[in-house]
Formats: sequence, structure tokens, C-alpha cells
Amino acid sequence: MQNFDFYAPARILFGKGTENQVGELLKPHAKKVLLHYGGGSIKKSGLYGAVTASLSGAGVAYAELGGVQPNPRLSLVREGIALCRREGADLILAVGGGSVIDSAKAIAMGVYCDGDVWDVYENGTPVERALPVATVLTIPAAGSESSGDTVITNEEKQLKYGYGSPKLRPLLSVINPELFFTLPKEQLGFGVADIMSHVFERYFTNTTHTDLTDSLCEAVLKTVIKNAPLALADMKNYDAWCEIGFGGTVAHNGLVGMGRAQDWACHTMEHELSAIYDVAHGVGLAVLTPAWMRYVYKDNIQMFLQFAVNVMGVPGGYRDPETVILEGIDRLSAFFRRLGLPATLSDLGIGGDKLELMAKKATGEAFGDEAPIGGLKKLVWQDVLAIYQSAAG
Ligand code: NZQ
Ligand code: ZN
Repeated sequence: MQNFDFYAPARILFGKGTENQVGELLKPHAKKVLLHYGGGSIKKSGLYGAVTASLSGAGVAYAELGGVQPNPRLSLVREGIALCRREGADLILAVGGGSVIDSAKAIAMGVYCDGDVWDVYENGTPVERALPVATVLTIPAAGSESSGDTVITNEEKQLKYGYGSPKLRPLLSVINPELFFTLPKEQLGFGVADIMSHVFERYFTNTTHTDLTDSLCEAVLKTVIKNAPLALADMKNYDAWCEIGFGGTVAHNGLVGMGRAQDWACHTMEHELSAIYDVAHGVGLAVLTPAWMRYVYKDNIQMFLQFAVNVMGVPGGYRDPETVILEGIDRLSAFFRRLGLPATLSDLGIGGDKLELMAKKATGEAFGDEAPIGGLKKLVWQDVLAIYQSAAG
């Protein structure tokens, strides 16, 4: 196990009706908040009314900015920064999913940036200050409600970059799994693929003596695998959503990755798909993850054997390890298909013409500073291209 430093201060208020407490919870922290949301689902579901009533009831003033799109855009972030400065907002309340929360975090640090906030994403300059962010989560997926990360799309440059800082961990997040009932069924699959990937990026490692975090990772994966079909069969299954919602937060608040080298190749490869083709993040991960596994498993047979047996329930015993592993990966692909997720890039209407460009962008080769990606196996652009090609279908 490696040395680590774990600090995840986001307060999580979990359960039925918790969104109605948001005004009282924010009152000690803010006089005026920027209420930030997406394309309108919160107005249809009634959540907008509940949150604004709670703010007004507690005497917390608000300005608002809706319109965040999945794969949140830099242009709206810039608008939000200007609005916050004009209105003197002292906290940003994100009501929505990962896209809304990430946009809120970008605005929160952009308010204190002298230059363009995009420079932070491009150069990774440490952020000294950011406004506090609070969230009301409406989809279990990205884990942004407890992470210090934000991922933004620069639509002009067709780049999607992430940035992480302890300053961006939300102050508090409200998670009422009843708010997930209105999700379109396809979003359930997108979210589950993302949650599982957040665990995979930490689970698949060459670090040894990681028994505790191995078990935590496996617990999150098995919980989600068990409960996702239950929620899909009945989108109002509160108990199943509780398990997925809690799993999504635990998957990405950092805990399950402590003491282990991490991977993140699948996320890096997926961001290229989202940046160019605007596909949902979870969809891209569902297509790329099995392809990545088939490409790298030989570099750590023991880890992938453990995954196949402990997580995917493949009988192990004295069988040939590679047979067991490949059956485990097939079972994962079948699980994604059961959730309605596509299996190949061609299912997404993505052809082969930009695969090389994406591989070179993902590894920095396109910008003249190649740095291999991944942890379990270091991947150069030719490896990434091979993975894209094997996912092409
Ligand atoms: O915009 P509205 O109308 O609200 O509709 C949204 C959106 O169309 C809809 N939706 C959300 N909650 C709903 C609902 N519809 C009905 N009922 C509800 N309760 O779902 C759609 C997708 O929303 P989005 O916020 O894009 O989903 P998600 O949470 O999957 O976020 C994806 C983004 O998070 C980033 C991804 O790259 C992607 O841009 N990530 C952020 C991370 C982080 N900050 O730590 C880590 C992740 O790896 C990920 O990269
Ligand atoms: Zn993700």
C-alpha cells in the first residue's frame, strides 16, 4: 500500500425530503447564491419550486442561471462568472447532475481568476480561491457532488479537460434518491457505467497489499450491479436508488482509491469522444472499458482474475485464468447491454476517420508533448489507437 492523504470534507445530507432543507443549510454560509441548473428537468419535476421556496423561506436571496448542457460548455461558465460578479453572489448552488455541478465549480474558481478560467484547465495552475459550492444531486453518476474535480468542454477548441483541487470539493451535497425517479431510463445506464468506471480506474492497479480498498471497490461494484436492474425495472424503486446513489458518491469521493496507484486511461480516452462527438460520458465509457480490459489484462492477470471471480461471479477454481477473465469481461459487456448501453463506436454512429487524431490528442502526441496514459499499463498513442479500433465494431 502507498502513503496517502485523505480529506473529503463534503457534507452529505442523504434521504427523503432533504432538498427542502437547503435554505436553512446555506443560510450560515451565504447571503446571495447563484442557483445554477440544466436544461429544464428540475422545472418539470417540481424541484426548482422546492429549492427556491426553501431559499426564500430561509431568507437567502438568489440569482439564477440555467441552461447547462451535458458536457458543460465554457461559454456558459464565462456567463456565470460575469453574473456572479455583477450580483455579488457568495455561493453557488448547483441543482442537477455532474454537468451542472462541474459548471458551478468552474464559475466558483473563475470568479477569482484574473485571466480566462480555461487557462486553469489547460495549464493546471493551482487555484488559490473559489466560491463555496453546494449541490442538490438529481442523477447518480459523475460523483461530482463529493469530488474536487470539474470537467469542462471548450466547444471552440473541441477539447474536454478536467481540473481538480481541494478548493472545489462541495461544502455540502443534498442527495434525495426520490429525485432520481424522473430520470429517463437511458440515463440510468449512463450513470451506472460512470460509477463503475470510477471504481475501475482505482481498482485495476499494480499496487499490492490493498486488501481493504480491493474489498471496498468490489462492494461498490456488486451493489451497483445488483441494484441497477431493479431500478431499471421500476424507476420508482427508492431502495434501489438509495444503493446506487450512495454507491455513486463513495465511488468518487476518493476513499476507494487510497493507497493505490490509479489508472484513468478509460476516462482520458472517453473525454476525446465527448469533446469531438458530444456523446454522453457514461456511454463512451461503456464502449471503451471492455475494449481497454481486453487490451491490458495480460499485464496483471491476478487483478483481472480477481475481478472476474469476485465481481462478475465467474467460477474460478482450476480453470485457465485467461478463460475466466475473458468470461468476466463478456459478462460486464452483457450487463452494460442489459442497461441499454451501446457496445461499439459504430452503434454511436462514430466512424474510423478521427480515431488516430483522438489517440494522439489523448496522449499529448498531437500537441508535441507525449505522455503515456494509464497506470496498470502505460499506453502510448499507438496503444490507444488499437483500443479505439477494437471498440469500433
Ligand atoms: O439538463 P437537465 O434538463 O437537467 O437534464 C439532464 C441532462 O440532460 C438529465 N437529468 C438529470 N437529472 C435528471 C434529469 N432528467 C430527469 N430527471 C432528473 N432527475 O440528465 C442529463 C444528463 O445530465 P448530466 O449532468 O450531464 O449527467 P452526469 O451526472 O452523468 O454528468 C456528466 C458530466 O460529468 C462529468 C462528465 O465528463 C460529464 O461532462 N464528470 C465529472 C466528474 C467530476 N466532476 O468529478 C467525474 C466524472 O468522471 C465525469 O467526467
Ligand atoms: Zn466519469
